[in-house]
This record gives sequence, C-alpha cells and structure tokens, in this order.
Amino acid sequence: MNAVAHEELLRPLEEFTRLHLDTLRRFGGRALDLSFPNPQFLSDPRPYDVLASLAAQARPLDLRYSPFGGFTPVRRRVAAALSKQHGLPYSWNDIVMTPGATAALRVALNTLFTPPDRIILVTPCWMDYPLYLQDLGLAFDLVPATDDKHLDVQAIANTWTPQTRGILIAQPGSPTGVIHDDRELKQLALLMQRHSTPTPPLLIADEAHAQQVWDKTSCPAPAAHWAHTLTVRSFGKAWDMQGQRTGCLAVSTNLGIRHQAVQQLVRTMRVTGHCAPTALTQQLAASLSDTAPDLGKLSGLQRHARRRLLSHGVMALDTHATRFLYARCPTPDDWAFVSQLAERGLLVMPSSLFHESGWFRIALNFGTPALDRALDIIGEEYNRA
Ligand SMILES: Cc1ncc(COP(=O)(O)O)c(C=O)c1O
Repeated sequence: MNAVAHEELLRPLEEFTRLHLDTLRRFGGRALDLSFPNPQFLSDPRPYDVLASLAAQARPLDLRYSPFGGFTPVRRRVAAALSKQHGLPYSWNDIVMTPGATAALRVALNTLFTPPDRIILVTPCWMDYPLYLQDLGLAFDLVPATDDKHLDVQAIANTWTPQTRGILIAQPGSPTGVIHDDRELKQLALLMQRHSTPTPPLLIADEAHAQQVWDKTSCPAPAAHWAHTLTVRSFGKAWDMQGQRTGCLAVSTNLGIRHQAVQQLVRTMRVTGHCAPTALTQQLAASLSDTAPDLGKLSGLQRHARRRLLSHGVMALDTHATRFLYARCPTPDDWAFVSQLAERGLLVMPSSLFHESGWFRIALNFGTPALDRALDIIGEEYNRA
C-alpha cells in the first residue's frame, strides 16, 4: 500500500472517525448518532432466529473450510434468488461469495481492470471506490450526477476517453438512495454500446442497497440493460447484519467472458487473501436469500423523518431506498455544518466523504422520540447558519 499516495483520500475519512469518537466521548449516552448505518432497532428478527438455529444444529463439518468462491449449495441458492430478482438465469458458478460488498468491489476492480484502464465514477459515490482504484493503480474520472442525483449520461459521454474501460454505479445510489430508472440505464447502455469497439466496456453495478427499497418503486437491475455487467450484493446491508460481512459477486449471464471471469475472480480472492464468508455466515445468507427483509419499520421512519425535516424547511432528496436521507447543507461547507451539529451531540456524515461538497447524510439508526430530537436539532442549526 502506498500510504503517501492515499493520504489525501484517507485524511477526511480519518478526520470524520476522530470527530465521531470525540463526540461520543464528550456526550456519552446523550449523543445522537445518525452517521454510520448501525440501526439500534430490529426491523426483522429473521437473521437472529436463523443464526441461532444454525448454531444449535451445527455439526463439525458445518464449520469446515469453504472453497474461495463459497460452498456450491450456497451459491446455487443465491443464484436462484438473484435470477428471480433480476429476471436473468444465473447458475451457481456465476456467483462468488465474498466477505461483504466491500471485498466484492475490491476483488472485481482488481480482476477486471489493469493500468492504463480508466474507470468512471458517478459522484456522490460510496466513500472507498476511489481508494481501491488508486491502490490498484487505476485512473478514474469523477462525473457529478444531476442536481436530483440521477445519472448525467451526457456528462458521462463527455468524460469518456479512449482508455475508459468501465463505469461503476450504485443501484440504488449510495449515499443518496436514488433509484436509477429504466430510461437512464437504457441511455447508459446506448452510450456503452457506442464505445464497444474493440471490446465492450464493463459495468460494475453496486447493488449493496437493492433490498432496501422501502416503498413500492421498482428498482431495475443494470445487468438487465447491459450484458457486460458485474453485480455486487450485500446480505449485510439487506438484513442489517453488516458485521457478519457477507456479500457476493454475480457475473452477468450474457457476459462473453463469463466463466473465464468467474475463474479469475476466484483466483483474485485467493491471491489477495480474501476468503469466502465464514461457513455459518454463508448458510445464513443462503437461508435468507429467498425472502425479502421486512422494511415496514424503515418505511414508516423514512416518511416521518422527511415530514419532520420539511417542517423545519429542510428538504431531503426525494428518494425511495436505503436507510439514508440526503439533504443540502445551509452553506456549501458541509464540514462546517456537520461540526456545528456535532457541537450539539448529533452526528451525521458530510458529503465530502462521498466526493461532493455541500450536502449531509442522515442514517435512520433509531426511532422516535430520540429521532425527533435529532431532526429538530438539524432544523434549528440549519436555520441558524
Ligand atoms: C454502495 C455501497 N457499497 C458497498 C458497501 C459495503 O457493503 P458491505 O457492508 O457489505 O461490505 C456499502 C456500505 O455502506 C455501500 O453503501
């Protein structure tokens, strides 16, 4: 790792970690932490029930070593579930089980691209994408989304270079919660089609939050629009069990180099020392893969929080997925606003961590009445700034 090269990207992340810790120390039990998504309530008890039953029934071989891509029966169940969700016929060997979406992303980028390839990232984006690309020696171009945080396909087209070999998007967007609709995914596919000689560019679709659509909006799969897609999934995010570190990679059934790609991905898992999730965690993911998490509580909280913020004149982006709300700061300096809130014991994330300035992200980690206290503080400080 080149620590000097990474300094600029790591510094803000570490600064926020310091602010987070300092605020928790200073305010103790009175701190209101809506920064990292660690919900304090249980929306759906199934992960706990399934894990308890798996642990109670575990025999010695249930804790055995797993192949690098994961256990075949687990991959088969995940493939069947994803086939239904995407409307594409995945088979077990299109799936690679990974310790979270985090490792899946890193392994995918490591496998599919080599310098001097360039990758397009749409901002705001998940905080660590640029870090992985930089560490792999891959050049990247940041393309801002539109004002309402949808894909700006014209801006992506203008940024495309002869070295551009891929684009990484999150569906739904993170930190925004915006769902990219069929129209914009189709436009993106048309653009990629225009750049398909000599080889088609690759789309990495980060679907870490795909099972967190809290109203009835449909969430189209980028893989259904572009054949050369690698999908990233997170069971941790879907079921609020992030610490269990479980996710997967799914190679598009239409990808020309499909089986070769899976073999290479599994090799990268080994070479980089990334193992499949633990044996029990894989069983847990497989057991949950056929069902959708109960989002009733999150849905209620999302609607409530939006109304409460609006009563203070704070407009969150109009979105339908994730446990996040994303809103503009009163001034372009998001660090200043987030620090101002931290002075009152309230933690939210500055958008600079997501590679754009002037916004903040709220994670709905707890319900009322503490949530109302937090939202009222945001309203007061917003109107004071
Ligand atoms: C868009 C996105 N990708 C990847 C991740 C990492 O997911 P995991 O917890 O499964 O490693 C996150 C986590 O917040 C995310 O928001």
